[in-house]
Amino acid sequence: MEIVPLTGSLGAEIIGADIKDAAQFEEIKRAFAQYSVITLRAQAITPQDHLAFARRGGEINVKRFFKALDGYPEVAVVLKEPDQTGAIGEVWHTDHAYDQVPALGSILHAIETPTYGGDTVFCSMGAAYDALSDRFKALLEGLSAWHSSRHVFGAGQAKSDANQTGRVGNTEKATQDALHPVVIQHPLSGRKGLFVNPEFTTQIEGLFKAESDAILNMLYEHCQKPEFQCRVKWQAGDVTMWDNRATWHKAINDYHGHRRYMHRVTVEGVPLSAASA
Ligand code: SIN
Repeated sequence: MEIVPLTGSLGAEIIGADIKDAAQFEEIKRAFAQYSVITLRAQAITPQDHLAFARRGGEINVKRFFKALDGYPEVAVVLKEPDQTGAIGEVWHTDHAYDQVPALGSILHAIETPTYGGDTVFCSMGAAYDALSDRFKALLEGLSAWHSSRHVFGAGQAKSDANQTGRVGNTEKATQDALHPVVIQHPLSGRKGLFVNPEFTTQIEGLFKAESDAILNMLYEHCQKPEFQCRVKWQAGDVTMWDNRATWHKAINDYHGHRRYMHRVTVEGVPLSAASA
């Protein structure tokens, strides 16, 4: 297989791999640990193959809030029809940050892609952290922040038309709140990285709301610098796997009038540890 880095911060595309071949998994896993986002081009796979590949990485996390593929409760459907305006995942986020044990990552398989647009953008939380001043890093390292699913997936929180069109549901299950360190030590690489995100993080513990908002908004502006990003341009058959503990991501909703249809499987993670000085 050929591994081609996408940018200096994160992301690689992998050409000539076959996720059905268990013998290739260790090499794919090494690329995942190094690049945080990997796109395996041109995979001819079924939902069973998708799940078998995910299970090599860990246990499957059944997504509570997205519609599941018929007959496959572990496969979430990420769909935007030509007449729909909202896309799932339009706001920068880290999946499952609101869980006590946030997911390791997700594996998205493109079934149908629009003729243009519909890319996914990723941002490296390690690169964003590295670029902060030593004084600011020291301030962040003692802090923890709250994350919640309530204000995104809870009752009455229809932020896009995804809720009304049945793509997002189970609002009664949106009861998760979790406290995580603001700077984590990555469980695979040991690299320090920020673990706050614009969609699910609600407040830094122990600070007044205004203080917390000022720090979080500064970090969010900093993290969105193009230097920390890579962009995945999809073709049908592509499979992208990203590390939730090392990245943010955002679905670019620029293809109104076209259909984009993906299957997503999410792999369970481990409890997060605060970065040590
Ligand atoms: C997601 O946030 O899981 C969806 C990403 C995408 O559709 O590109």
